[in-house]
Amino acid sequence: MQLLGTTSSDLAAAAELLRAGQLVALPTETVYGLAADATQPLAVAAIYAAKGRPSFNPLIAHVADLAAAEALVVMDPLSRQLAEAFWPGPLTLVLPRRPDCSVSTLAAAGLGTQAVRVPGHPGFLGVLRALGRPVVAPSANRSGSLSPTTAAHVCSSLDGAVAAVVDGGPCNVGVESTVVEVRDGVAWLLRAGGLPAAAIEAYTGPLQRALHAEQPRSPGQLLVHYAPTTRLRYPAASVETGEVLLTFAGQTLPGAAPLAVRDLSPTGDDREAAANLFALLHELDSLGAQAIAVAPVPERGVGEAVADRLRRAAAARSENNHAS
Ligand code: TXA
Ligand code: MG
Repeated sequence: MQLLGTTSSDLAAAAELLRAGQLVALPTETVYGLAADATQPLAVAAIYAAKGRPSFNPLIAHVADLAAAEALVVMDPLSRQLAEAFWPGPLTLVLPRRPDCSVSTLAAAGLGTQAVRVPGHPGFLGVLRALGRPVVAPSANRSGSLSPTTAAHVCSSLDGAVAAVVDGGPCNVGVESTVVEVRDGVAWLLRAGGLPAAAIEAYTGPLQRALHAEQPRSPGQLLVHYAPTTRLRYPAASVETGEVLLTFAGQTLPGAAPLAVRDLSPTGDDREAAANLFALLHELDSLGAQAIAVAPVPERGVGEAVADRLRRAAAARSENNHAS
Protein backbone atom coordinates (compact mmCIF):
# COMPACT_ATOMS: atom_id res chain seq x y z
CA MET A 1 0.00 0.00 0.00
CA GLN A 2 1.26 3.41 -1.04
CA LEU A 3 1.12 6.31 1.41
CA LEU A 4 0.34 9.58 -0.40
CA GLY A 5 0.17 13.18 0.81
CA THR A 6 -1.96 16.03 -0.50
CA THR A 7 0.43 17.69 -2.97
CA SER A 8 -1.14 18.11 -6.39
CA SER A 9 1.10 15.39 -7.86
CA ASP A 10 0.07 12.97 -5.08
CA LEU A 11 -3.62 13.75 -5.68
CA ALA A 12 -3.09 13.24 -9.42
CA ALA A 13 -1.44 9.87 -8.64
CA ALA A 14 -4.47 8.89 -6.51
CA ALA A 15 -6.78 9.84 -9.40
CA GLU A 16 -4.72 7.67 -11.80
CA LEU A 17 -5.02 4.67 -9.47
CA LEU A 18 -8.81 5.18 -9.37
CA ARG A 19 -8.93 5.50 -13.16
CA ALA A 20 -7.07 2.17 -13.33
CA GLY A 21 -9.86 0.57 -11.27
CA GLN A 22 -7.95 0.46 -7.97
CA LEU A 23 -9.27 1.33 -4.50
CA VAL A 24 -7.79 4.34 -2.70
CA ALA A 25 -8.58 5.58 0.82
CA LEU A 26 -9.28 9.32 0.77
CA PRO A 27 -9.74 11.86 3.57
CA THR A 28 -13.04 13.70 3.96
CA GLU A 29 -14.08 16.18 6.63
CA THR A 30 -16.22 13.43 8.26
CA VAL A 31 -14.32 10.12 8.13
CA TYR A 32 -11.87 8.49 5.69
CA GLY A 33 -13.58 7.00 2.63
CA LEU A 34 -12.74 3.81 0.70
CA ALA A 35 -12.94 5.26 -2.80
CA ALA A 36 -13.51 3.76 -6.25
CA ASP A 37 -14.30 5.22 -9.67
CA ALA A 38 -18.11 5.14 -9.51
CA THR A 39 -18.42 4.47 -13.25
CA GLN A 40 -16.53 1.13 -13.11
CA PRO A 41 -18.72 -1.74 -11.87
CA LEU A 42 -15.73 -3.96 -11.09
CA ALA A 43 -14.11 -1.25 -8.97
CA VAL A 44 -17.39 -0.71 -7.11
CA ALA A 45 -17.69 -4.45 -6.52
CA ALA A 46 -14.16 -4.44 -5.09
CA ILE A 47 -15.35 -2.04 -2.36
CA TYR A 48 -17.97 -4.50 -1.16
CA ALA A 49 -15.36 -7.27 -1.16
CA ALA A 50 -12.77 -5.20 0.72
CA LYS A 51 -15.23 -4.14 3.40
CA GLY A 52 -16.99 -7.48 3.66
CA ARG A 53 -20.16 -5.42 3.25
CA PRO A 54 -23.59 -6.83 2.43
CA SER A 55 -24.08 -5.90 -1.21
CA PHE A 56 -27.55 -4.47 -0.59
CA ASN A 57 -26.10 -1.53 1.28
CA PRO A 58 -25.91 1.39 -1.19
CA LEU A 59 -22.99 3.80 -1.56
CA ILE A 60 -22.67 7.60 -1.65
CA ALA A 61 -21.40 9.16 -4.91
CA HIS A 62 -18.98 12.00 -4.16
CA VAL A 63 -18.72 14.82 -6.70
CA ALA A 64 -16.79 18.08 -6.99
CA ASP A 65 -19.75 20.47 -7.13
CA LEU A 66 -23.50 20.91 -7.50
CA ALA A 67 -23.33 20.84 -11.32
CA ALA A 68 -21.64 17.43 -11.22
CA ALA A 69 -24.39 16.18 -8.88
CA GLU A 70 -27.12 17.43 -11.23
CA ALA A 71 -25.63 15.24 -13.98
CA LEU A 72 -26.35 12.15 -11.86
CA VAL A 73 -29.64 12.83 -10.08
CA VAL A 74 -32.86 14.84 -10.43
CA MET A 75 -32.84 17.71 -7.91
CA ASP A 76 -36.05 19.07 -6.42
CA PRO A 77 -35.99 22.74 -5.33
CA LEU A 78 -35.66 22.00 -1.59
CA SER A 79 -32.78 19.56 -2.09
CA ARG A 80 -31.06 22.13 -4.31
CA GLN A 81 -31.43 24.77 -1.60
CA LEU A 82 -29.80 22.41 0.92
CA ALA A 83 -27.00 21.62 -1.53
CA GLU A 84 -26.35 25.32 -2.13
CA ALA A 85 -26.35 26.03 1.59
CA PHE A 86 -24.22 23.14 2.85
CA TRP A 87 -21.95 21.83 0.05
CA PRO A 88 -19.08 21.23 0.27
CA GLY A 89 -19.88 19.74 3.67
CA PRO A 90 -21.20 16.83 5.75
CA LEU A 91 -24.60 16.53 4.04
CA THR A 92 -25.66 13.61 1.81
CA LEU A 93 -28.80 13.93 -0.32
CA VAL A 94 -30.74 10.88 -1.55
CA LEU A 95 -32.33 11.68 -4.92
CA PRO A 96 -33.85 9.91 -7.95
CA ARG A 97 -31.17 8.70 -10.39
CA ARG A 98 -31.20 10.18 -13.88
CA PRO A 99 -31.71 7.54 -16.59
CA ASP A 100 -28.19 8.35 -17.86
CA CYS A 101 -26.61 8.43 -14.37
CA SER A 102 -22.97 7.35 -14.81
CA VAL A 103 -22.72 5.80 -11.34
CA SER A 104 -22.75 1.99 -11.51
CA THR A 105 -26.19 0.61 -10.53
CA LEU A 106 -24.29 -1.66 -8.15
CA ALA A 107 -23.68 1.42 -5.98
CA ALA A 108 -27.44 2.05 -5.80
CA ALA A 109 -27.96 -1.54 -4.61
CA GLY A 110 -31.10 -1.94 -6.69
CA LEU A 111 -32.76 1.26 -5.45
CA GLY A 112 -33.96 3.90 -7.94
CA THR A 113 -32.25 6.55 -5.86
CA GLN A 114 -28.64 7.67 -5.58
CA ALA A 115 -27.00 9.27 -2.55
CA VAL A 116 -24.73 12.22 -3.48
CA ARG A 117 -22.51 14.64 -1.65
CA VAL A 118 -19.72 17.19 -2.19
CA PRO A 119 -17.10 16.45 0.50
CA GLY A 120 -15.51 19.36 2.34
CA HIS A 121 -11.88 18.25 2.16
CA PRO A 122 -9.40 19.81 -0.30
CA GLY A 123 -7.61 16.46 -0.77
CA PHE A 124 -10.77 14.63 -1.87
CA LEU A 125 -11.89 17.59 -4.01
CA GLY A 126 -8.46 17.65 -5.70
CA VAL A 127 -8.80 13.96 -6.60
CA LEU A 128 -12.34 14.50 -7.94
CA ARG A 129 -11.16 17.35 -10.17
CA ALA A 130 -8.18 15.34 -11.44
CA LEU A 131 -10.39 12.31 -12.17
CA GLY A 132 -13.37 14.19 -13.62
CA ARG A 133 -15.76 11.39 -12.61
CA PRO A 134 -17.91 10.63 -9.55
CA VAL A 135 -16.29 8.57 -6.80
CA VAL A 136 -18.19 6.19 -4.53
CA ALA A 137 -16.83 5.92 -0.99
CA PRO A 138 -18.18 4.23 2.12
CA SER A 139 -16.28 4.71 5.36
CA ALA A 140 -12.85 3.04 5.02
CA ASN A 141 -13.29 0.36 7.67
CA ARG A 142 -14.23 -3.30 7.56
CA SER A 143 -17.98 -3.74 7.76
CA GLY A 144 -19.24 -3.54 11.34
CA SER A 145 -16.14 -1.96 12.85
CA LEU A 146 -15.30 1.61 13.87
CA SER A 147 -15.06 4.32 11.24
CA PRO A 148 -11.54 5.68 10.58
CA THR A 149 -10.71 9.32 11.30
CA THR A 150 -6.96 9.06 10.65
CA ALA A 151 -4.83 7.45 7.92
CA ALA A 152 -3.40 5.14 10.61
CA HIS A 153 -6.90 3.79 11.37
CA VAL A 154 -7.31 2.96 7.66
CA CYS A 155 -3.95 1.19 7.53
CA SER A 156 -4.75 -1.01 10.51
CA SER A 157 -8.19 -1.98 9.14
CA LEU A 158 -7.72 -2.24 5.37
CA ASP A 159 -4.01 -2.80 4.69
CA GLY A 160 -3.71 -5.05 1.65
CA ALA A 161 -7.15 -4.12 0.34
CA VAL A 162 -6.29 -0.63 -0.91
CA ALA A 163 -3.67 0.50 -3.44
CA ALA A 164 -2.99 3.76 -1.58
CA VAL A 165 -4.04 5.98 1.32
CA VAL A 166 -4.03 9.75 0.96
CA ASP A 167 -3.10 11.14 4.37
CA GLY A 168 -5.03 14.38 4.79
CA GLY A 169 -4.66 14.56 8.58
CA PRO A 170 -7.31 13.80 11.20
CA CYS A 171 -10.91 14.39 10.08
CA ASN A 172 -12.18 17.59 11.66
CA VAL A 173 -15.90 16.67 11.83
CA GLY A 174 -15.33 13.07 12.94
CA VAL A 175 -18.75 11.49 12.36
CA GLU A 176 -20.29 10.53 9.02
CA SER A 177 -22.40 12.91 6.95
CA THR A 178 -26.05 13.63 7.73
CA VAL A 179 -28.27 11.78 5.21
CA VAL A 180 -31.46 13.53 4.06
CA GLU A 181 -34.11 12.56 1.52
CA VAL A 182 -36.81 14.95 0.29
CA ARG A 183 -39.96 13.19 -0.85
CA ASP A 184 -43.00 15.14 -2.06
CA GLY A 185 -41.51 18.29 -0.51
CA VAL A 186 -41.06 16.63 2.91
CA ALA A 187 -37.53 16.19 4.28
CA TRP A 188 -36.60 12.94 6.05
CA LEU A 189 -33.56 12.53 8.28
CA LEU A 190 -32.20 9.10 7.29
CA ARG A 191 -29.01 9.32 9.35
CA ALA A 192 -28.01 11.87 11.99
CA GLY A 193 -24.50 13.06 11.18
CA GLY A 194 -21.92 15.81 11.08
CA LEU A 195 -24.37 18.51 9.98
CA PRO A 196 -26.73 19.21 12.92
CA ALA A 197 -30.42 18.62 12.20
CA ALA A 198 -31.26 22.13 13.39
CA ALA A 199 -29.14 23.67 10.61
CA ILE A 200 -31.14 21.73 8.01
CA GLU A 201 -34.48 22.50 9.68
CA ALA A 202 -33.86 26.22 9.11
CA TYR A 203 -34.60 25.37 5.44
CA THR A 204 -36.94 22.40 5.67
CA GLY A 205 -38.94 22.91 8.84
CA PRO A 206 -39.11 19.94 11.25
CA LEU A 207 -37.35 16.88 9.80
CA GLN A 208 -39.27 13.61 9.69
CA ARG A 209 -37.33 11.01 11.64
CA ALA A 210 -37.80 7.46 10.47
CA LEU A 211 -38.28 5.09 13.38
CA HIS A 212 -35.78 2.42 12.39
CA ALA A 213 -37.95 -0.56 13.20
CA GLU A 214 -41.03 0.75 11.43
CA GLN A 215 -39.75 2.82 8.56
CA PRO A 216 -36.25 1.80 7.58
CA ARG A 217 -35.54 4.24 4.75
CA SER A 218 -31.76 4.06 4.76
CA PRO A 219 -30.62 0.46 4.45
CA GLY A 220 -27.39 0.93 6.41
CA GLN A 221 -29.44 2.16 9.35
CA LEU A 222 -30.98 -1.24 9.93
CA LEU A 223 -27.73 -2.68 11.08
CA VAL A 224 -25.38 -2.51 13.98
CA HIS A 225 -22.57 -0.13 13.10
CA TYR A 226 -19.46 1.39 14.52
CA ALA A 227 -18.86 -1.33 17.09
CA PRO A 228 -15.52 -1.65 18.90
CA THR A 229 -14.33 -5.18 19.71
CA THR A 230 -14.69 -4.45 23.42
CA ARG A 231 -18.27 -4.44 24.74
CA LEU A 232 -19.62 -0.92 25.07
CA ARG A 233 -22.32 0.32 27.48
CA TYR A 234 -24.24 3.47 26.60
CA PRO A 235 -25.54 5.44 28.39
CA ALA A 236 -23.77 4.13 31.49
CA ALA A 237 -24.98 5.27 34.93
CA SER A 238 -22.02 3.76 36.78
CA VAL A 239 -18.64 2.08 36.24
CA GLU A 240 -18.23 -1.67 36.84
CA THR A 241 -14.98 -3.35 37.91
CA GLY A 242 -12.52 -3.75 35.02
CA GLU A 243 -14.09 -1.10 32.84
CA VAL A 244 -12.66 1.98 31.17
CA LEU A 245 -14.68 5.21 31.06
CA LEU A 246 -15.40 7.47 28.12
CA THR A 247 -16.87 10.64 29.55
CA PHE A 248 -18.11 14.06 28.41
CA ALA A 249 -17.42 17.44 30.00
CA GLY A 250 -15.59 15.95 32.99
CA GLN A 251 -18.55 13.93 34.33
CA THR A 252 -17.62 11.26 36.87
CA LEU A 253 -19.79 8.17 37.36
CA PRO A 254 -20.40 6.28 40.63
CA GLY A 255 -19.14 2.71 41.09
CA ALA A 256 -15.68 1.21 40.55
CA ALA A 257 -12.61 3.26 39.65
CA PRO A 258 -12.21 3.07 35.85
CA LEU A 259 -8.94 1.55 34.53
CA ALA A 260 -8.60 4.52 32.18
CA VAL A 261 -10.60 7.66 31.51
CA ARG A 262 -10.89 9.65 28.27
CA ASP A 263 -13.03 12.75 27.79
CA LEU A 264 -14.85 13.38 24.47
CA SER A 265 -14.84 17.10 25.22
CA PRO A 266 -13.60 18.52 28.52
CA THR A 267 -15.29 21.83 27.65
CA GLY A 268 -18.64 20.19 26.79
CA ASP A 269 -18.52 21.09 23.07
CA ASP A 270 -20.58 18.71 20.87
CA ARG A 271 -18.39 19.38 17.81
CA GLU A 272 -15.23 18.53 19.72
CA ALA A 273 -16.91 15.33 20.97
CA ALA A 274 -17.73 14.29 17.39
CA ALA A 275 -14.19 14.99 16.21
CA ASN A 276 -12.74 12.86 19.05
CA LEU A 277 -15.32 10.05 19.08
CA PHE A 278 -13.84 7.37 16.84
CA ALA A 279 -10.20 8.04 17.75
CA LEU A 280 -10.97 7.67 21.47
CA LEU A 281 -13.06 4.53 20.86
CA HIS A 282 -10.18 3.04 18.83
CA GLU A 283 -7.80 3.87 21.69
CA LEU A 284 -10.02 2.53 24.50
CA ASP A 285 -10.77 -0.57 22.43
CA SER A 286 -7.05 -1.43 22.41
CA LEU A 287 -6.71 -1.55 26.21
CA GLY A 288 -8.29 -4.98 26.73
CA ALA A 289 -10.85 -3.77 29.30
CA GLN A 290 -13.97 -5.71 30.36
CA ALA A 291 -16.11 -3.04 28.77
CA ILE A 292 -16.17 0.60 27.78
CA ALA A 293 -18.66 2.54 29.92
CA VAL A 294 -19.75 5.75 28.19
CA ALA A 295 -21.28 8.65 30.12
CA PRO A 296 -24.36 10.32 28.56
CA VAL A 297 -23.70 12.85 25.79
CA PRO A 298 -26.23 15.70 25.42
CA GLU A 299 -28.07 15.37 22.09
CA ARG A 300 -27.71 18.96 20.99
CA GLY A 301 -26.19 19.87 17.62
CA VAL A 302 -23.92 17.13 16.30
CA GLY A 303 -24.32 15.47 19.72
CA GLU A 304 -27.37 13.73 18.18
CA ALA A 305 -25.03 11.90 15.78
CA VAL A 306 -22.52 11.12 18.55
CA ALA A 307 -25.26 9.58 20.72
CA ASP A 308 -26.63 7.67 17.70
CA ARG A 309 -23.22 6.08 17.01
CA LEU A 310 -22.79 5.20 20.71
CA ARG A 311 -26.24 3.54 20.87
CA ARG A 312 -25.38 1.49 17.77
CA ALA A 313 -22.04 0.48 19.25
CA ALA A 314 -23.84 -0.61 22.42
CA ALA A 315 -26.49 -2.66 20.59
CA ALA A 316 -26.09 -6.43 20.82
CA ARG A 317 -23.87 -7.96 18.16
CA SER A 318 -25.01 -10.93 16.17
CA GLU A 319 -23.74 -12.79 13.12
CA ASN A 320 -25.93 -11.21 10.47
CA ASN A 321 -26.28 -7.89 12.14
CA HIS A 322 -23.41 -5.76 10.99
CA ALA A 323 -22.51 -3.47 8.11
CA SER A 324 -20.98 -0.21 6.91
O1 TXA B 1 -19.48 10.99 5.77
C1 TXA B 1 -19.83 10.06 5.04
O2 TXA B 1 -20.97 9.97 4.57
C2 TXA B 1 -18.77 9.01 4.68
C3 TXA B 1 -17.67 9.69 3.87
C4 TXA B 1 -16.63 8.71 3.37
O3 TXA B 1 -18.24 10.40 2.80
N1 TXA B 1 -19.36 7.92 3.95
C5 TXA B 1 -20.18 7.02 4.56
O4 TXA B 1 -20.65 6.06 3.70
O5 TXA B 1 -20.50 7.08 5.73
P1 TXA B 1 -21.33 4.72 4.21
O6 TXA B 1 -21.44 3.86 2.99
O7 TXA B 1 -20.57 4.15 5.35
O8 TXA B 1 -22.77 5.18 4.66
C6 TXA B 1 -23.72 5.60 3.71
C7 TXA B 1 -25.09 5.70 4.32
C8 TXA B 1 -25.65 4.34 4.73
O9 TXA B 1 -26.41 4.49 5.92
C9 TXA B 1 -26.55 4.00 3.52
O10 TXA B 1 -27.57 3.09 3.85
C10 TXA B 1 -27.09 5.37 3.14
O11 TXA B 1 -26.01 6.26 3.34
N2 TXA B 1 -27.48 5.43 1.74
C11 TXA B 1 -26.68 5.37 0.66
N3 TXA B 1 -27.39 5.39 -0.47
C12 TXA B 1 -28.69 5.44 -0.13
C13 TXA B 1 -29.93 5.45 -0.84
N4 TXA B 1 -29.95 5.42 -2.17
N5 TXA B 1 -31.08 5.52 -0.13
C14 TXA B 1 -31.05 5.56 1.22
N6 TXA B 1 -29.93 5.53 1.95
C15 TXA B 1 -28.76 5.46 1.30
MG1 MG C 1 -19.83 3.36 7.39
